[in-house]
Amino acid sequence: MFEARGIDSTDKAEFYRELAGQLEALLAGERDVIANAANTSALLFQMMPDLNWAGFYMMREGELVLGPFQGKPACVRIAVGKGVCGAAVARRASVLVEDVHAFPGHIACDSASRSELVVPLIGRDGVIGVIDLDSPSPARFDAADQAGIERIAAIWLAACGETAEPALARAS
Ligand code: SME
Repeated sequence: MFEARGIDSTDKAEFYRELAGQLEALLAGERDVIANAANTSALLFQMMPDLNWAGFYMMREGELVLGPFQGKPACVRIAVGKGVCGAAVARRASVLVEDVHAFPGHIACDSASRSELVVPLIGRDGVIGVIDLDSPSPARFDAADQAGIERIAAIWLAACGETAEPALARAS
């Protein structure tokens, strides 16, 4: 549905504005968490250059459990506070790791991963999961990527009815 294209590193903000618009269109009118996570993973993996993994972990009975993703098979369960994903849940904040080898407790699902960005999904009743992006390049993600993916997370939460925001305009 969407064609990958190169990203102009000087204009990530524009790239993420376009990506946000594509995601809003893709999720409009659909509230199913699994369907929306699956399509969001596919869009991110298709459109963002230099990724080897893009997907979701969802909170299930107090721990993170693997959700829809694109990339190699990954570890299934991650405790809160463990790894980059568990750290994002514990901190209730995004975690940007320029060098995964320098992050204490990093969980290596794919040995190709060198940098990582994890954004928590904070719903009505707290953290309900995370979006996790891995890259084979060191320092692939910066503050502009973090802001862009935090916007992607907000769109996903709104589509799934997990925020107080009104439903997406295009959903009506
Ligand atoms: N590296 C993550 C584990 C998940 S994989 O990257 C898909 C972490 O340390 O939490």
